[in-house]
Amino acid sequence: MQLILIAAKAKNNVIGKDNQLIWKLSADLKRFKNLTSGHYILMGRKTYESLGKPLPNRTHIIVSRNPDFSVPEGHYAFSSVEEAFIFCNKVGVEKLYIIGGGQIYGETLNLCDRLEITDVEASPDGDTFFPEIDSKIWLETGREDHPADERNEYPFSFVTYEKITKP
Ligand SMILES: NC(=O)c1ccc[n+]([C@@H]2O[C@H](COP(=O)([O-])OP(=O)(O)OC[C@H]3O[C@@H](n4cnc5c(N)ncnc54)[C@H](OP(=O)(O)O)[C@@H]3O)[C@@H](O)[C@H]2O)c1
Repeated sequence: MQLILIAAKAKNNVIGKDNQLIWKLSADLKRFKNLTSGHYILMGRKTYESLGKPLPNRTHIIVSRNPDFSVPEGHYAFSSVEEAFIFCNKVGVEKLYIIGGGQIYGETLNLCDRLEITDVEASPDGDTFFPEIDSKIWLETGREDHPADERNEYPFSFVTYEKITKP
């Protein structure tokens, strides 16, 4: 199973505040939808709650240490990231997208095979951060730069990283 992490982060590594996203970037939402549609997506309980309801056309895998946490039919909750990976392997998932938030990125970053990062040219206040991307482990293999416009409030770049060495 391939593990692909997808995140949008600011120059100061901020990714969220008050359990919400902190920018309006329509191109980023579109790319997220294009990459993840039809796939399994793994997230922490807080990110799941920030969505409000499951995203269409994706199977949600949510991790929570609360044994009473439940999810709608067709989606799955696990009490550890390891259990979630075991389940996904068992049901034959080929690509698992790891979609956040901060805790889950911190726990899984260096287990991933590829990172699909949106670098946002801003340094907003926030309470949730993306971990450092270690250049000894990750090689930038693709980059697309975009200016701000009426639908995207900051300039941003879509950056792909592939793992070059095991941590
Ligand atoms: N910019 C982006 O790309 C992006 C993407 C996603 C989210 N975000 C932002 O990130 C913020 C949320 O991130 P967060 O760090 O606060 O929370 P999170 O990572 O979404 O979820 C944390 C929760 O996940 C569960 N959890 C974490 N590690 C676990 C483990 N090893 N085993 C079992 N359960 C585990 C726990 O749930 P319980 O407390 O229920 O046990 C924990 O409280 C929001 O602001 C959101 O908007 C940004």
